[in-house]
Amino acid sequence: MAKRKTIPDFKKMVAEGEKIVYLTAYDYLTAKYEERAGIEMILVGDSLGMVQLGYPTTFPVTMDDMIRHCCAVRRGAPNVFIVGDMPYMSYQVSNELAIANAGRFIKEADCDCIKLEGAGPQICERVKAISGAGIMVMGHIGLTPQFAAQLGGYKAQGKSMEAALKLMAEAKRLEEAGCWAILVEGVPAIVGKAIKEQANIPILGIGAGSYTDGQLLIYADMAGYYDDFCPKFVKQYGQIGPALQKCFEEYVAEVKSGAFPDNSKHCYKISDEEAEKLQAKLDELKG
Ligand code: KIV
Repeated sequence: MAKRKTIPDFKKMVAEGEKIVYLTAYDYLTAKYEERAGIEMILVGDSLGMVQLGYPTTFPVTMDDMIRHCCAVRRGAPNVFIVGDMPYMSYQVSNELAIANAGRFIKEADCDCIKLEGAGPQICERVKAISGAGIMVMGHIGLTPQFAAQLGGYKAQGKSMEAALKLMAEAKRLEEAGCWAILVEGVPAIVGKAIKEQANIPILGIGAGSYTDGQLLIYADMAGYYDDFCPKFVKQYGQIGPALQKCFEEYVAEVKSGAFPDNSKHCYKISDEEAEKLQAKLDELKG
């Protein structure tokens, strides 16, 4: 079993041109399979709200939701670097609240760092405060779901020269504020490349092209599980949803027909002697 990677390990990988493999997980079982597969970094994203809890957005997700799921992921993947995603309004209100909530990810769920969205002056202040308290922070710019209203919906970002330069400036500000890495979401590949080339810290991408130092996907998208919609940048490596549905449909049919359970295979055994004694007793009780 590979040992849990550290931030110096990731920096070394970037320096040597080795890509970082990053994927979301929200539960014990999925995390276990991800660790077995060699995933190096897991994001317990607030996408939890949409792909696990059934909300239409990430806004309703609470700190308690995040901590419970981070703990489950840590139990499934004890040897993987875990990033805890700070949910909406867990860091916006004040530096004190942001530090306290970030600390919960580390103290209660054994996460290795936290991630937060945005790069405005107030967010940079939070990054300084949290990293100043000794907690490693990953920034997140581009298509940031918690800012969907300001961005005009879930749309690709950085699609003009001005917008791309603005994203580059945001990345610089986050680096200066103390982020150890930045996730860039939903931008053209040339923009991902420009942000990576100006950075002195790891730049990870989700829908940001192939030039970033690593790739993130939402596991439920790439495994063909979440089917409410599928972003353009996702490649599906499997069809877990239809495979599960087929299992459930066969189970329904076999229970209805009586084909399951087969008492010779799916049942606990009793010796012939005890079965005969029991049958005799039941017959006697019936009179
Ligand atoms: O919550 C999440 O999974 C995320 C990704 C969309 C980047 O923040």
